Amino acid sequence: MSYETILTSTDGRVGVITLNRPKALNALNDQLMDELGAALLSFDADNNISCIVITGSEKAFAAGADIGMMSKYNFTDVYKSDYITKNWETIRKIRKPVIAAVAGYALGGGCELAMMCDFIIAADNAKFGQPEIKLGIIPGAGGSQRLPRAVSKSKAMDMCLTARMMDANEAERAGLVSRVVAADKLLEETMAAAKIIGEMSLPIVMMVKESINASFESSLSEGIHFERRLFHSTFATEDQKEGMAAFVEKRPAKFKHQ
Ligand code: HXC
Repeated sequence: MSYETILTSTDGRVGVITLNRPKALNALNDQLMDELGAALLSFDADNNISCIVITGSEKAFAAGADIGMMSKYNFTDVYKSDYITKNWETIRKIRKPVIAAVAGYALGGGCELAMMCDFIIAADNAKFGQPEIKLGIIPGAGGSQRLPRAVSKSKAMDMCLTARMMDANEAERAGLVSRVVAADKLLEETMAAAKIIGEMSLPIVMMVKESINASFESSLSEGIHFERRLFHSTFATEDQKEGMAAFVEKRPAKFKHQ
């Protein structure tokens, strides 16, 4: 499929989506979010893909939802049609891991998009922020919900109320990102992580994602119960037999994603 606002490619079992509106610092308009959703669903349905990477440019992962587009809307426009927000939830339907490789600005909807991914690898020039308050709006795609879970209530309040940006090192200390790498190594390091995931058993990878995500939506005892059931079900896969046999036979496992 051909897209106008994103680029897609594959490398082994990894699908890469590059946000590509450089003149607008990858501002997220409805077309881009539609195309991003279509590309994500397509990689999710592809048996040859195990892991998806979303990235932007060196200057911006995404500087937020497109302010020019939003400035034309009134309340009834956005409420009736669910404009701006309607296609943002597609990423939540994706069952394979999605890694955000963030360099430069990840602001507003850009920060929210990164937080919707399963983990964030940040370049040392990354800047995260929820500056919506300066535009007279509040975060609209989970910023006020995911940010406090990721970095604490105090930091989330600080960022959403003052609009200050958090640099990559602060983001790592606060737990928003899993690692910080040199900006010129961002894609290389992210692809290395994605390829490691690609070598694992795909159904098991999907169960890990499902189980960790369940921890955000359930009590501890419900989450533990859910994990236990999934853990038991891994013993029904061929790849569990192969993984354990390979260890016992002191050889690398060759998973068939079955
Ligand atoms: C539309 C944007 C944009 C945005 C940047 N641009 N951010 N266009 N929507 N969110 C455009 C600029 O208008 C400009 O276009 C070009 O990109 C380069 O930006 P500059 O401002 O000239 O660059 P710079 O001086 O380096 O400043 C970078 C910046 C600044 C600090 C990131 O652009 C900025 O503050 N952007 C807005 C950030 C923001 O408020 N994001 C939250 C949006 S609200 P021209 O044509 O002039 O060259 C949001 C709600 C989410 O995200 C709701 C989710 C459902």
